[in-house]
Amino acid sequence: MPQKSFYVTTPIYYVNDAPHIGHAYTSVAGDVITRWHRQHGESVIYLTGTDEHGTKVASKAEANDMAPQDWVDKLVAEHWKPVLETLNVANDDFIRTTQKRHRRGVQKFWEVLKEQGFVYQADYNGPYCVACEEFKLPGDLLEGEGDELICKVHGKPVQLLNEKNWFFKLQGFQEQLIEHYERHPTAIAPASAYNEVLSFIRSGLSDVSMSRESVDWGVRLPWDPEQVVYVWFDALLNYITAIGYGDSQAEDAFADIWPADIHLVGKDILRFHAVFWPAMLMAAGLPLPKQVFAHGWLLVGGEKMSKTKLTGIAPNQISDHFGVDAFRYYFMAAINFGADGSFSWEDMHDRYHADLANGLGNLASRSLAMVTKYFDGRVPQPGSYTNADLALQDELVEAVANADAAMLRLDFSTGIARVRGYVESVNGYITEQEPWKLAKDESKQTRLATVLYCVMESLRAIAVLYAAVMPEACERLWADIGASGKLSDQTIEQVDRWGQLEPGASVSKGPALFPRIDKVT
Ligand code: MSP
Repeated sequence: MPQKSFYVTTPIYYVNDAPHIGHAYTSVAGDVITRWHRQHGESVIYLTGTDEHGTKVASKAEANDMAPQDWVDKLVAEHWKPVLETLNVANDDFIRTTQKRHRRGVQKFWEVLKEQGFVYQADYNGPYCVACEEFKLPGDLLEGEGDELICKVHGKPVQLLNEKNWFFKLQGFQEQLIEHYERHPTAIAPASAYNEVLSFIRSGLSDVSMSRESVDWGVRLPWDPEQVVYVWFDALLNYITAIGYGDSQAEDAFADIWPADIHLVGKDILRFHAVFWPAMLMAAGLPLPKQVFAHGWLLVGGEKMSKTKLTGIAPNQISDHFGVDAFRYYFMAAINFGADGSFSWEDMHDRYHADLANGLGNLASRSLAMVTKYFDGRVPQPGSYTNADLALQDELVEAVANADAAMLRLDFSTGIARVRGYVESVNGYITEQEPWKLAKDESKQTRLATVLYCVMESLRAIAVLYAAVMPEACERLWADIGASGKLSDQTIEQVDRWGQLEPGASVSKGPALFPRIDKVT
């Protein structure tokens, strides 16, 4: 039987505005996971896209004097799709909730749930935050001025709704959800997110409104076209409509991909993904995602970076200055995935120079310069290995095992630190072996060849190990060291097999991989 595809998703982003680095952060993380699993020889489907319905998007379109469809078309074409290219994100598909494939799937899904008795009509009377597009619970709110209630996430007053809605029978899934999560303790990660969700479920679930009466911009309920599907109960379905749910021609493809292996989400939208979404799937008789991973927020001044608060930084402000690879490296290396992190130009500048310009970049350029100078630009033929060479090889084996385990559990900062540790070891090895001294002694030419071969082999391994995080720089490094075959065909399983670079291959010493950059003032 063919292996099931590994299926990774990002949340679909609201197109009320252009992306900021908080959004880019999730997309890059998903891309790194995707590339890492591809390097394990797995077939991976990576999905991202845009959430285009709801009050928030409709109001923004109106404020810009545009029809909602024209507004979302413009934003997707001018910002949301280009940012993926800017960041070198290798998504396989891009779902938009205004697409026919999605709207058809949403209508089918809710029709099935309605027929099976999971949906009923009632009045909703309570608070709603448009910025979150969420019906709020008392614990989600702060008291504002007068009678005003304030959303804790956005710091904005909520609306008080009183409308006739259709409700989804969430309450009935409380026990099943608890049972599921007790049996699958890694279905929500990190552990703090798991505990938070379980205690929320244990505190008691209520049925939730799944439609909106006063909203026009959305997917109409097939049995009550006066109402549209509540934007979250439309958006969550993207994970299945993108892979064929609701399309009778695509049932096999759907079964090959679903369930998702990882839904990446920010911690603010965990409840939707770890409570509502699995309950919806249970109601529809579909398998549940294997894992929902909640990452932290990028903070500015201690608060979540957001366009609403005018603190959003556009991704290309950073990538234009430091390069795309450095952007990807920084956010994956500097922030513990699952915890909050702050971006600062200063910190980025320092890490860029320490880890990339002076670390990997300098290692590559001085090694290539020595091979060019001492061996006429050809990978030398090694002689017999000494203990120091064998220790370097052992260290690679250990670094690969540790980095792999960390990357597979989405602990990117640890995974990257392991590879960085290896880069430092290779730099240390060069300092100890002093190839420039060996070069001066005719009788030590074989030893010089062995040392530089070990260094070039290390660079080969580093190019493979960093490829998921810094695809462009690693492609260049791969070409510069004269490696044969495609970098994308190299696997993590094979990376520590010593001796893959062919002696005699031509190296080239191009411009610096990570040039030094002036400080932003
Ligand atoms: N449209 C919903 C998701 C529907 S998924 C079925 C939504 N969109 S969003 O554009 O507001 O947010 C998308 C993702 O970006 C969320 O995971 C959110 O956590 C993330 N981020 C938005 N701002 C962020 C930071 N400042 N830092 C890190 N991630 C942040 O919610």
